[in-house]
Amino acid sequence: MPDAGAAWSQRRDTVPLPLQVDGLCYRVDEETLIDNISVSIDSPGISVILGPNGAGKSLFLRLIHGLIDPSAGDIRWRGRPPDLAQRRRQALVFQKPVLLRRSVAANIDFVLKPLGAGYRERRDQILQAAGLFRLRDHPARLLSGGEQQKLALARALATDPAVLLLDEPCASIDAGSTLQIETLLEQTSARGVKILLVTHNIGQARRLADDVLFLHHGRLLEYSPAEAFMKCPKSPPAQAFIDGNIVL
Ligand SMILES: Nc1ncnc2c1ncn2[C@@H]1O[C@H](COP(=O)(O)OP(=O)(O)O)[C@@H](O)[C@H]1O
Ligand SMILES: [Mg+2]
Repeated sequence: MPDAGAAWSQRRDTVPLPLQVDGLCYRVDEETLIDNISVSIDSPGISVILGPNGAGKSLFLRLIHGLIDPSAGDIRWRGRPPDLAQRRRQALVFQKPVLLRRSVAANIDFVLKPLGAGYRERRDQILQAAGLFRLRDHPARLLSGGEQQKLALARALATDPAVLLLDEPCASIDAGSTLQIETLLEQTSARGVKILLVTHNIGQARRLADDVLFLHHGRLLEYSPAEAFMKCPKSPPAQAFIDGNIVL
């Protein structure tokens, strides 16, 4: 598969690592949903945020992206709080793709048009890379779940992000689309884009992770290189999760 962004990427800024999270809390009413998470992520590869359903993975990703505000604590990229310029360099792909009720091509044009001349050529390249070129004139809402998710990812990549955040992008899609998305993510990471990937799929974590953040009940139980995490997790819930047991 051709690389989704290499052909046209204009900007090769360095990623503003480390991503420092300090004392991060998110509370709703009396309930603490994200509980005092501190971590400094400085690996340039794919960081997988792993944990059972309800662990707080989606909330943590939304806090990092700035979609919701923390109740306490802060987030810094290379020592600086996220400003508009930083937020513009981030793209988030949701678990359920949010697409415009227009054609496949128009969904990509929406983010590319502001970049001016040459956007159609870029759009076609990115649709080809995502395996969606032949569907470019189809209404996005008529695509299969896997195709919609690939389109959401292609649109995120079209913005040429320095940081790509994904929330369970393969949660309810077919094996073929999962493989294509994983390939796109590996290519994107190889181009130097920092990826934060939420999943509860241990197989996907094994295939893609360079490092793993393991969340449980809103707490960060471990942040380790992937190999160390898979071989020798530091907490009983992580061990149980890797073993495929139900983790409450
Ligand atoms: N806005 C909210 N109000 C109250 N509880 C919430 C809200 N959002 C999420 N939760 C709860 O917080 C916990 C963590 O949610 P979430 O981050 O979606 O988990 P995960 O993505 O790991 O499955 C869950 O128990 C969920 O029900
Ligand atoms: Mg979630």
